Amino acid sequence: MRYRPRRWLPSLLAAALLAGAAVPASGADERQAIQLEPADRAHCLARMRMFQEVNNAILRATLAGDMEAVRRAALSAVPPPHRDPDLRGEVPARATGMAGGEGRQGAGPAQGRRSGAGGEPGQGRRGDGPGPPRQGRMQALMPEAYQGMMHTQYEAYQAIARDAEAVGEPRHTQEQLARLQDTCVACHSAYRFSR
Ligand code: HEC
Repeated sequence: MRYRPRRWLPSLLAAALLAGAAVPASGADERQAIQLEPADRAHCLARMRMFQEVNNAILRATLAGDMEAVRRAALSAVPPPHRDPDLRGEVPARATGMAGGEGRQGAGPAQGRRSGAGGEPGQGRRGDGPGPPRQGRMQALMPEAYQGMMHTQYEAYQAIARDAEAVGEPRHTQEQLARLQDTCVACHSAYRFSR
């Protein structure tokens, strides 16, 4: 089977290059390093593992023909502050094993903001520990292209959730999931985390 053209990928990669990222054909060690404090790095990696779980849950749900499970899984990957307003009150976002889960502060009202109460100090609670709250730190630290790809990914999860209801076709979801995973791949070829 031939790959379908990925129309948006060139512009993402171009954006990554503009931001100074090396995108080697080999994918070896020329990825741009993003320096993070250990707690922030652990938080980001925990979220990454959550994305992988969610993708598998979506795939399994399509195999079972359970489109409601597709919708719920897809939405659970998107923290309410990053959702379109009409989806903010739906299915809670997944916790990532770190205190605070996805209840990060951000633009707009964030349900789930309080979900981190009782977690380990400095491990994902907004405003805990030294320095400014995580969301602000992240925005300062993450290259624009990185944030753009994350945004693309959240849009894609929301599209999967909407279409699970509106279209209701497992195969359509699988195509959307394959495209979404192009974003995972693009970002992983461009960036790594370091201390
Ligand atoms: C905007 C950038 C970006 C996107 C989008 C992205 N990732 Fe990542 N991901 C990273 C970076 C950076 C790392 C750390 C890689 C390193 O340091 O070697 C990472 C690491 C991971 C890891 C390893 C976690 C660990 O504990 O070591 C997994 C699994 C992962 N990502 C899954 C995904 C999946 C699945 C998607 C798509 C749904 C995705 N990521 C989308 C940037 C991204």
